[in-house]
Amino acid sequence: MLPAQPWKKNQRIQVSERKDNTDAMARACWDKREQVDKYRRAIQAMRDLPEDHPHSFVNQAKIHCAYCNGGYTQVDNGFPDIEIQIHNSWLFFPFHRWYLYFYERILGKLINDPTFALPFWKWDEPVGMPIPEMFLPEVVNGKPNSLYDVYRDEIHIKQRLVDLDYDGNDKDITNQTQVLCNLSTVYRDLVRNGADTISFFGGEYKAGNSPIKNGDPSVGSVEAGSHTAVHRWVGDRKKRNGEDMGNFYSAGYDPVFYIHHSNVDRMWKLWKELGIKGHNEPTDPDWLNASYVFYDENEELVRVYNKDCVNIRKLNYDFIENSKEVFPWRKSRP
Ligand code: C2O
Repeated sequence: MLPAQPWKKNQRIQVSERKDNTDAMARACWDKREQVDKYRRAIQAMRDLPEDHPHSFVNQAKIHCAYCNGGYTQVDNGFPDIEIQIHNSWLFFPFHRWYLYFYERILGKLINDPTFALPFWKWDEPVGMPIPEMFLPEVVNGKPNSLYDVYRDEIHIKQRLVDLDYDGNDKDITNQTQVLCNLSTVYRDLVRNGADTISFFGGEYKAGNSPIKNGDPSVGSVEAGSHTAVHRWVGDRKKRNGEDMGNFYSAGYDPVFYIHHSNVDRMWKLWKELGIKGHNEPTDPDWLNASYVFYDENEELVRVYNKDCVNIRKLNYDFIENSKEVFPWRKSRP
């Protein structure tokens, strides 16, 4: 048998072009059509699989809700009555990094492209603040757009810039002011509120601990801030639970989820690259050795550990920055 092809480096890129945007800056974005087409084709291939396939769109979305809505208990650790929750604590960043890692490889396999990389929705710079164009049309080239989801807030996605501090109410401000607010929010999440390991990653959560509740002060700065705001902002306000993006159980059913989380994952990388004292991953063995189980691209179940996802180079992907200014919010102290 031939050895498996080594995976080439997956280059994640920004997507934010919008045809309808009249803002010159937004229109000036470079063309990412090829990457977008690949994501669209790969999601379509996932949707075309039989539903019970471990790689099907529905089963992949269910992984997310299984780890967050009481799908599992801590039975392996001897606490069968306590639920596992990977949100609202220091498991947030590593769990989602691994989840996207396998998701990306599965999509690559489905379109037979080992270099496939997830795009990222770069909502931390002004041109990236409207929702990326690829999610909007219902039909592309005569076929249903696999990236379209009907359960989204229509007004937000058609007319507005994302509000990274969205609390359920639209602010009556100009786009220009919204841009400035967003830049300060990123600064708040990565610098002011994320000054040390626990404030950035979230509080300790170990075997035997009950899940931490949303709203607790120990939820990490990005998770509690811009991350959740984007979820709520995209979700449909007419639906009871803000489906799809506005609720954990349904978020994975919107292809925006993975492109949003690709950027959330990038926030972890940027936070490190800021090079500020105190910006270090947890070193507690309970964090390092926490693990999850996923189906890989070969449909095999694998167990992966937090400690092995700290360095993304080892995971063979990286984020390509298209502008010299990697931290456009650096001077946006609120
Ligand atoms: Cu698992 Cu953005 O949530």
